[in-house]
Amino acid sequence: MPAGTGTPKGRGVTRRALLRGAVVAAAAGSVGFAGGRFTAPPSAVPAWTAADMPSQAGRRAVVTGGNGYPQDGRSGLGYHEALGLARAGADVTIASRHQGRGEEAVRRIRAAAPGARVRFETLDLTDLASITAFVARMEDAGDRLDLLINNAGVQGRLEREETPEGLERVFATNARGPFVLSAGLRPLLQRGTAPRIVWTSSSRVGEIDFDDLQKVRSYDYGRAYDDTKLGALLMAFECQRRSTAGGWGIASLAVHPGVCRTSIVVDGPGLDTPEGFRFQYLPFMWQDAAVGALPALYAATSPMATGGAYYGPRDVQGLRGAPTYAPVPEAARDPDLARRYWETMEDLAGLSFS
Ligand SMILES: NC(=O)c1ccc[n+]([C@@H]2O[C@H](COP(=O)([O-])OP(=O)(O)OC[C@H]3O[C@@H](n4cnc5c(N)ncnc54)[C@H](OP(=O)(O)O)[C@@H]3O)[C@@H](O)[C@H]2O)c1
Repeated sequence: MPAGTGTPKGRGVTRRALLRGAVVAAAAGSVGFAGGRFTAPPSAVPAWTAADMPSQAGRRAVVTGGNGYPQDGRSGLGYHEALGLARAGADVTIASRHQGRGEEAVRRIRAAAPGARVRFETLDLTDLASITAFVARMEDAGDRLDLLINNAGVQGRLEREETPEGLERVFATNARGPFVLSAGLRPLLQRGTAPRIVWTSSSRVGEIDFDDLQKVRSYDYGRAYDDTKLGALLMAFECQRRSTAGGWGIASLAVHPGVCRTSIVVDGPGLDTPEGFRFQYLPFMWQDAAVGALPALYAATSPMATGGAYYGPRDVQGLRGAPTYAPVPEAARDPDLARRYWETMEDLAGLSFS
């Protein structure tokens, strides 16, 4: 079965039925699912590079975590997403914690793309007050937003860490942070033109244990991360469902970058781990972040990309190369799980997204 052609569990599906499902899905504006069911995409995404990106002139975009400029043989995915968007003419705000790195990223993007409209704003996704302040600054700076890429994320360190609010750090950064930010920016996005939210998952996802979301009883750095990446898919698809039902006009899409040479292992579990070993001694396993950014750029800008779809690399079992549909893991297809996760996020943030 080609990537992304997931079918409802336990049903034999003919090629004709797959095509029919794709047409229904496309008509519903949602290739990933239609009528609450995941359906087959109509075909593979045609070969696509950053050069195929349509002009983004006049579009206002936020990329979280866009400050990882190239350094020491690695660079952040968000940096390449911001660079690609700025090159295509978008007005880009990159947002994360470290201002110095942010300012240097802005300087480098302007040098690589003369005339680029790009700025840095501080944002700590683990801190509700920081998210609120960031949203307020975005509202002061403009009356609409066309694109939000929820890119920023961390891997867990070997020992469990808590935010001042008492949340497990990976969960706070990768799950609740993007949820609260998306909720806060929703009014601006609804005033945007063909607005999109892109959520960043991973080729490997975990599971959701509602009884121990904060990993108090049992912490493992790999599981802490993988579970939030299932969360990203659940939030992406639930956001699309609620947008469709509520008439928000926002397309919600999910992506993963494959395996990329960024700082996530070094800043997370570190080099003295199996991931760190692979990072140091098996360099061929890690693709350049500029390539890993392509699924997000495709989801963010292609007129062919649709709400509810999931994109990732097409080669080496979906770990490298140009974007195409990514297979949707079984757990991410469960609308009840997604609704419960969404409502849990609302409770944890003390807000109503919809
Ligand atoms: N690299 C891979 O192979 C891979 C695979 C699958 C998925 N991903 C996903 O891709 C996304 C980007 O990761 P990356 O690999 O590019 O990692 P990276 O190089 O470590 O970049 C992470 C970015 O997130 C920002 N960030 C971290 N904590 C933050 C916080 N509390 N608030 C705001 N921003 C924060 C960092 O900036 P500051 O430190 O300045 O805050 C940095 O710009 C993540 O969601 C990751 O899970 C990566």
